[in-house]
Amino acid sequence: MLTKLQTNTARGEGAVSIIEATQILPFSVARTYHIYGVKTGVVRGHHAHKKLNQFAVCVYGAVCIMLDNGEEKRFYTLDNPSCGIMIPAQAWHTMEWLRDDSVLLVLASAPYDESDYIRNYEDYLRQRIKEDGHSCDNG
Ligand code: TYD
Repeated sequence: MLTKLQTNTARGEGAVSIIEATQILPFSVARTYHIYGVKTGVVRGHHAHKKLNQFAVCVYGAVCIMLDNGEEKRFYTLDNPSCGIMIPAQAWHTMEWLRDDSVLLVLASAPYDESDYIRNYEDYLRQRIKEDGHSCDNG
């Protein structure tokens, strides 16, 4: 699920990694933000989005992204600025800082909207069950 970005390297001059939005992203970018100044071991996120799709790149350092669909958790280490990962709508996710001062760049499909967040895991699971039609609740 990691996406390798087109990367041009020049000997002795480092590298350029490129996100051509129309080729890499299944959405138009409406917003970018970057998270930084975080100490090793800190875990951020702990939420899902109802509709927002995001693509994350750790442009410096290392961050572990956990994606949880309510049934299964998957962990992805972003420790190379030439790779990114989709954080799709409806995925419960966390971001754990593996190195001090890592910088996580996020491209998002919509402007900030607090009402698009699901911040409570129990609510998230309830909503997933409802959508999947597997509810055991007879009420
Ligand atoms: P949040 O998305 O909860 O951070 P994280 O997932 O990294 O733990 O955002 C942290 C705070 O910043 C929260 O109060 C909302 C605010 N915020 C905005 O105002 N605009 C934004 O685009 C983002 C991403 C966050």
